[in-house]
Amino acid sequence: NIHVVIMAGGAGTRFWPYSRNNKPKQFLDVLGTGRTLLQMTFDRFKETVPSENIWVVSNEIYKDFLAEQLPEVPIENILLEPSKRNTAPCIAYAAYKIREKDPNGVMVILPSDHVIFKEAAFVEVIGQAVDSADDERLFTIGIEPHRPETGYGYIQFEESDEEIKKVKTFTEKPELELAEKFIASGDFVWNAGIFVWSVTAIINAFETYQPELAETFEEGSGIYYTPDEPKFIKSAYSLSKSNSIDYAIMEKSDSVYVVLGDFGWSDLGSWNALHEIKTKDENENVIEGNVITYDSKDNYILSETNRVIVAQGLEGYLVADFEDVLLICKKEDSGIFRRFVTDVKIEK
Ligand code: GDD
Ligand code: MG
Repeated sequence: NIHVVIMAGGAGTRFWPYSRNNKPKQFLDVLGTGRTLLQMTFDRFKETVPSENIWVVSNEIYKDFLAEQLPEVPIENILLEPSKRNTAPCIAYAAYKIREKDPNGVMVILPSDHVIFKEAAFVEVIGQAVDSADDERLFTIGIEPHRPETGYGYIQFEESDEEIKKVKTFTEKPELELAEKFIASGDFVWNAGIFVWSVTAIINAFETYQPELAETFEEGSGIYYTPDEPKFIKSAYSLSKSNSIDYAIMEKSDSVYVVLGDFGWSDLGSWNALHEIKTKDENENVIEGNVITYDSKDNYILSETNRVIVAQGLEGYLVADFEDVLLICKKEDSGIFRRFVTDVKIEK
């Protein structure tokens, strides 16, 4: 069976101050469609995958958002994490738990901070990967890159006529200089952060490349689905190091394959990404709220307060005015946002 696993426990720091620790972007209606990013992720599969095979992994502090936004997902399919450990433990938890019920299952791992404009093309690409899933291969989706984004993974693959290509190198979040080289070479695609693999293949990969993590979650065998699960998970998370699946497995495994996808993908992980997809004025500015600009171009200017923002001579900036914080910074520099969040202690 196919199991859809939605990862929804990130803090969304690069989207600060819009996205806060107490309400990250996956729970926000970022596009103004009436559905949050999390709900839009769920919607992509709700017609084709039975709800008992849709799983959401998130932090327990977001429990209420999950119940409110995804009433269709059975409560026992919402896996709550006691602490933030990034995506490797999140995927391990889901894999080991699903294995108990369905050892031959195939997992489709989805981030909840993306937009996808061509749904049909997306479904087709996922279908290709699902059909190819076996006991070894790990599939990721590759996206044609168009800027030297440092917040993504970069994939270089072996040229072939096959739809599915063997990955030569996987480089997670390169420095800007390296990202620029990757883009200039024309030889790389972005990692979409969407993965497909069998329960067996990912558990084999954990055992090979992250034996401690594998051992930790293996211990839960016989405990998953019992009243002792939360207690077990609490200790498993305290034993697990924070690591993303990209560093933990994708960079290391020699059994990674990529399916190229062209489905109008955008990671809304940063203001820059949001700027790309939003409607712009004739000077490439995205303007939201009470804003007046003069001789300004390529900015994202947002006022969430009654204050009017008047800007002159600005280029390539983000200006975001919220009730309790005003952020002014270079739009490109998404890596710096993590620092802002730790340096500014205004979170609840
Ligand atoms: N449950 C859970 N627990 N989910 C988490 C956690 C966690 O501790 N941390 C992050 N997530 C969720 C986020 O909410 C998001 O939906 C998804 O996992 C990916 O995490 P991000 O933190 O947004 O990753 P990223 O954007 O920096 O990088 C990944 O995605 C890029 C494309 O969007 C990587 O896979 C990159 O290689 C990729 O290019
Ligand atoms: Mg992201």
